[in-house]
Amino acid sequence: MQLTHTGPVKVGLIHGPNLNMLGVRDPDVYGKETFDNLNKRLKEYANRIGITLDVKQSNSEGTIIDFIQEWYSWAEAIIINPGAYTHYSYAIRDALADSRRPVIEVHLTNVQSREEFRRNSVIAPIATGQITGFGAHSYFLALDAAKNIVDESRR
Ligand code: DQA
Repeated sequence: MQLTHTGPVKVGLIHGPNLNMLGVRDPDVYGKETFDNLNKRLKEYANRIGITLDVKQSNSEGTIIDFIQEWYSWAEAIIINPGAYTHYSYAIRDALADSRRPVIEVHLTNVQSREEFRRNSVIAPIATGQITGFGAHSYFLALDAAKNIVDESRR
């Protein structure tokens, strides 16, 4: 569906499974910042650079697919950290591909430098790009990328 957009860029951001535990979950690997604080900072930053940001989180594959489908008629770009679903969810990959929106895959950690199973992403082939390994800053880079891509496509 081709949408006509003006004004702030509409971006949907999904945090996948276990990411609601940020700040509690293995802080040496995933950082000390809490999930709520990160989202607060992301919304402030998004607002500052001209993005209307909708943030969702779920631990369930089906719910994540529902979020993506709801955005088919709203989002101009989708940012997703699919958590462990990155490595095997063809269903999330299909939903993202069907969105026909630019997709930015985000990871806090450098997935290439960790266990073997994390090195493969089934999402990456349908994503516009991946941002991985910059901690919480990965999400901010993704917001910049989303803004850029959508601004270009509106011209
Ligand atoms: C992660 C990396 C995944 O392998 C892992 O399962 C996560 C988080 C990251 O942000 O680094 O849950 O997506």
